[in-house]
Amino acid sequence: MKNHHLKFVLVLAALCLVLACKDQGKKEDKDPAVHSENALDTEAEMYRPNFHFTPKVGWMNDPNGMFYYNGYYHLYYQHYPDGNKWGPMHWGHAISTDMVAWKEQPIALYPDEKGYIFSGSAVVDLENTSGFGIGGKVPIIAMFTYHNTDIKKAKGIDVESQAIAYSLDEGLTWTKYSGNPVIENPGIRNFRDPKVSWNKEQKKWIMVLAANDKVMFYGSKDLKSWELLSDFGGDWDRELGTHGGVWECPDLFPIPVEGSEETKWVLLVSINPGGPNGGSATQYFIGDFDGTKFIMDTEFEAVLNKGQNHWLDFGKDNYAGVSFSNVTSKDGGKFYMGWMSNWEYANKVPTETWRSAMTVAREIKMFKDDKSYRLASHPVDEIDAYKVGKYKKENIQVDGETALIKVEKVDLSRAAINFTISELKKDSFTFKLSNKVGDELSFGYDGTNNTYFLDRSKSGKTGFSTTFSNKRSTAERISSSKQLTGTLLLDKTSIELFYDDGSTVMTEIFFPNAPFETLSVASVSQDFILDNLEVNQLNRH
Ligand code: FRU
Repeated sequence: MKNHHLKFVLVLAALCLVLACKDQGKKEDKDPAVHSENALDTEAEMYRPNFHFTPKVGWMNDPNGMFYYNGYYHLYYQHYPDGNKWGPMHWGHAISTDMVAWKEQPIALYPDEKGYIFSGSAVVDLENTSGFGIGGKVPIIAMFTYHNTDIKKAKGIDVESQAIAYSLDEGLTWTKYSGNPVIENPGIRNFRDPKVSWNKEQKKWIMVLAANDKVMFYGSKDLKSWELLSDFGGDWDRELGTHGGVWECPDLFPIPVEGSEETKWVLLVSINPGGPNGGSATQYFIGDFDGTKFIMDTEFEAVLNKGQNHWLDFGKDNYAGVSFSNVTSKDGGKFYMGWMSNWEYANKVPTETWRSAMTVAREIKMFKDDKSYRLASHPVDEIDAYKVGKYKKENIQVDGETALIKVEKVDLSRAAINFTISELKKDSFTFKLSNKVGDELSFGYDGTNNTYFLDRSKSGKTGFSTTFSNKRSTAERISSSKQLTGTLLLDKTSIELFYDDGSTVMTEIFFPNAPFETLSVASVSQDFILDNLEVNQLNRH
């Protein structure tokens, strides 16, 4: 090698080393994007979100093991670092001080001879009930599913079992327990996604997992030996609109009912297929948990018996979401993130280096309307720190199509928009995002059916799957208020719509051929007044 070549190689190697070391550090990064700025405009990065978490390289699905401890939020995730399609599952890892800006960390858990590392949860074992905490260290315990592909290939039934791992450095590195699995497969083919939480009243750990078309509850004093407590679902759910889909990624937690002294229990259950607009989605049940059994609330059950399932998010792209452990909001709300994709097409979306993003972190709250208990979701307050107020407008008369936002003023690929319509008419209106090359994403309210809708059929690249945009998505309007409010979060490839204080939510992804440049709104048959419009840019710090 010539001398100057050698010099060049050495300098390059040193640079790589510096960059790699920088990356390993557990260091705060206020940039909500997890990639470098220069990468933004390259072809490969054109769809990389500005403020949603994506892995730098490779495939990602469900969020796993989310917890908060000592100033850091931790997000683990189903990850295949060596390919851009689902494959041998690892747990990837990212940390954040605010649930908005995530910093990717080294892989937390690798598959081994017992199987792939499927979804699960993590808890902070403050009292060292597990005994893993040595030298006064607080152990973090992760519980996950081993998915054994050899047994699967041999058509065995006991493919999935539950295992634990512990961390003595606050979630950065992990040791798998030598006594794994801690729960053997009981003869159920789909037996996975354990979500553990501490039950204050019973002073024990409760775990819920998905088993075919039901959930099973287990209890433990030490996170190592588990006893079966009860199950929920099974036979009756088939009649209630879940279309025989597999139940996955459950979560169970208590939550205060807004404006009352009451606390109710929520059971989240992801279902695939069977979602309200096809494919994957997350349903919820509300009731009480007596330490052993989940008892559905009777009013809630009455609504369900009419065939009205309760969906956490009606859009096609929010799946397998669960709550963070060891933290609640000041009002007792739960923090939550979901996987922003759908098994119908997740492996085919047009990104190459990486695949899939998470939703923004949300706060889940419970309220009671005249019919029954409901959940509402909002983007976490921490996102406000990234907002730069662009403008506010009042009393916008909408008659035909009216432009609201143009790219010269606001970058629509990182915007947070609020609007209010004080007097909702029994009419329809449509918001439209558009660009120079003729792509359009439309969403709005259909007054005839009292539903919200989202239509991505002309939103750009759609042909990679027949079910990506074959029909527009619709969502029930839960609120009966005359006033309609909306919060929209817009990133390069996603829209998150929180209507009526978050009681109806729609999350969907899209892949335009060029960035969207204009947001307009149009009335359908009657004019109406958009009373308030508040537009914020979501800045990189
Ligand atoms: C949900 C899911 C889980 C499973 C994981 C595998 O999306 O199917 O049930 O643990 O993905 O990656």
